[in-house]
Amino acid sequence: MLFAPTFYILIQMIWRQVISVGDTVVDATCGNGHDTAILAKLALGENNEGVVHGFDLQSSAIEKTSSLLDKELSTNQRKRVYLHHTCHSKLGQVIKEKNFVSVVAFNLGYLPGGEKGITTASNTTVEALMCATSLVKHGGIITLVSYIGHPGGRDEYEAVRDFATRLASDKWICSHWELLNRPLCPRLLVLLKK
Ligand SMILES: C[S@@+](CC[C@H](N)C(=O)[O-])C[C@H]1O[C@@H](n2cnc3c(N)ncnc32)[C@H](O)[C@@H]1O
Repeated sequence: MLFAPTFYILIQMIWRQVISVGDTVVDATCGNGHDTAILAKLALGENNEGVVHGFDLQSSAIEKTSSLLDKELSTNQRKRVYLHHTCHSKLGQVIKEKNFVSVVAFNLGYLPGGEKGITTASNTTVEALMCATSLVKHGGIITLVSYIGHPGGRDEYEAVRDFATRLASDKWICSHWELLNRPLCPRLLVLLKK
């Protein structure tokens, strides 16, 4: 889809503004590992700087991410990526430090090239989002790409949008991006912790 690059360029520009080498970042939906690899290259240095946590419910996604990272990262960087084969609603059980993470990235929906029936779900996505709000540090962000074209996608988008709308305006700046002349385009939400 032609509109996809617009979103990915925008997200990567935003990540670059927020992430420094040495940061801790989270990919809440690893999928094929493309986002994890980009986040890892921004956060990981060669001298044990930075940590990446990646989550996915499907073992095939964890395997694909792991082999992409093996190719894309140096041996030192690869050692600092921890892949968790579990639901992202467990974020808070895996990462204990509050106000510490620079970016939590969600790319919702189904695994491209995988089983389209296995998608993220409103209830666990919102649970994960809630955990993410306490993990993110001041000046850090949560990014979400939400798709409305598949069954359940629009409900999930509305649930995350509703969650973001209710975040306290003295603590969070929440924005929403969409393409005006592409009604079914993915939606991008960026939640910045002040
Ligand atoms: C659109 S894909 C992610 C694409 C990925 N970021 C990339 O760069 O390739 C969504 C992923 O979310 C995963 N997923 C679905 N429900 C999940 C959950 N509750 N917790 C963690 N991952 C989940 C799916 O298995 C799928 O791999």
